[in-house]
Amino acid sequence: MTPAGPRKVAAYIGALAGLGLILAACSSGGGADPAEYPEDNIEVIVPFSAGGPTDTVTRMVAEPMSQDLGVQMVVQNVDGAGGTVGAGQAAAAEPDGYTVLMHHIGMSTAPALYPDLAYDPVADFKTVGLVTEVPMTIIARSDFEPETFEDFVTYVQENADTVTMAHAGEGSASNLCGLLLTEALGVEVTAVPYDGTGPAMTELVGGQVDFMCDQTTNTTGQITAGKVKAYAVTTPERIEALPDLPTTAEAGQPDIQVTVWHGLYVPAETPDEIVATLTESLQVALADQTVIDQMADLGTAPVSEEQATPEAHTELLEEQIGTWGEIISASQGG
Ligand code: MLT
Repeated sequence: MTPAGPRKVAAYIGALAGLGLILAACSSGGGADPAEYPEDNIEVIVPFSAGGPTDTVTRMVAEPMSQDLGVQMVVQNVDGAGGTVGAGQAAAAEPDGYTVLMHHIGMSTAPALYPDLAYDPVADFKTVGLVTEVPMTIIARSDFEPETFEDFVTYVQENADTVTMAHAGEGSASNLCGLLLTEALGVEVTAVPYDGTGPAMTELVGGQVDFMCDQTTNTTGQITAGKVKAYAVTTPERIEALPDLPTTAEAGQPDIQVTVWHGLYVPAETPDEIVATLTESLQVALADQTVIDQMADLGTAPVSEEQATPEAHTELLEEQIGTWGEIISASQGG
């Protein structure tokens, strides 16, 4: 065998060095080392279409979190089936801190609505912290006949067989609010599902669907601009962003009360140190004046620091799974 010349020896050394780099990258777990986290961009799954209320809230907090963490929180809309497609994708992601889920009340309704749910909202996730609790508004296309909420109630009861109601899929907040609304009115209407209330709003403004119940983070701008008709807000008190909008209770329908809590999640096996880093960054974002102002303009507010913790988030999630399970079971005659 002829001895290797200097060029060939250099080639061998280069190859070994390259192999060493590859092995080092593998041994460091591709950036999953909690002490070094985060070293790369983080994907934030939003389980509804772009432009809707969940997407809006996510982008509000993703910006200051990106600044705080020194990497980009990259929003990924994975819509479908009332948010369960996106949540399922997040549950199955690598538990390395580089996939985070933003979801809302739909995390607590899915178990009662989807018998074959691909994930367990509690066992398959770790909670990072609550984000905000958003009021809902009952709105209609701008040329819808009823002027007041009382007129709306009468009109829908008398025309239940022809009116259409938009929502973002079984178990979505807009679907749940629609359930409370039609239950209170004692009617069944034609539901028109979308992959998010972003596209639903486009069709409502265009007059292709009659009404829907959606979050102020998606409706405030359209209401203020006169693009849709607004009848009521689903909170006990009126909200500053829409001071002229009566509450459902004022309009004689106190049972139609719902707010939409949002939280951040990671896959269940994500190291606790990584969760703690994300929780701290979320708390920084929720204290950011720009976020506070943006949320106020859209009828909501950040939760307190105590609520933006895994403990408070898990407590609410578990309580809500029970509550909505009972409501949904009762509405299905269970
Ligand atoms: C819903 O549950 O209605 C969602 O919030 C809609 C959305 O975010 O697009």
